[in-house]
Amino acid sequence: GAPVQVNIAKLEIGQQIVAEWRGKPVFVARRSDEMLNNIKALDASVLDPESSNADQQPEYAKNEYRSIRPDILVLVGLCTHLGCSPKFLPEVVPMDFDPAWKGGYHCPCHGSKFDLAGRVYKGVPAPSNLEVPPYSFQGDDVLIIG
Ligand code: FES
Repeated sequence: GAPVQVNIAKLEIGQQIVAEWRGKPVFVARRSDEMLNNIKALDASVLDPESSNADQQPEYAKNEYRSIRPDILVLVGLCTHLGCSPKFLPEVVPMDFDPAWKGGYHCPCHGSKFDLAGRVYKGVPAPSNLEVPPYSFQGDDVLIIG
């Protein structure tokens, strides 16, 4: 499939837009410094903190925030359990499924939880982090997926 261009100029901190690439949803979110700090604090709670599973991201996203730019998160929006689309819940607020929720993604199908880098929490059905698709930037405002 052809690469997909997404203009992120109007994407605000804490917001997500959903693009489509090769028939899959792709989540594009802008993270705040606070969100990035929360990611750092979750290393002990997630299954693959270092993104060791090479199938789940390109080499350039194998880093603390699983991204090229710290602020912009790009993920294939399909749960790594059975492929439902996880919900974006960026706020740090108590949730029924997790009173200590730090913001991230929650899968409505069987309750898998992911942080704001798409890293899967321990003890949920999903076996791996959400996939980061291949992508690049053209200037500050244009994201190219694929
Ligand atoms: Fe997401 Fe099962 S498909 S938890």
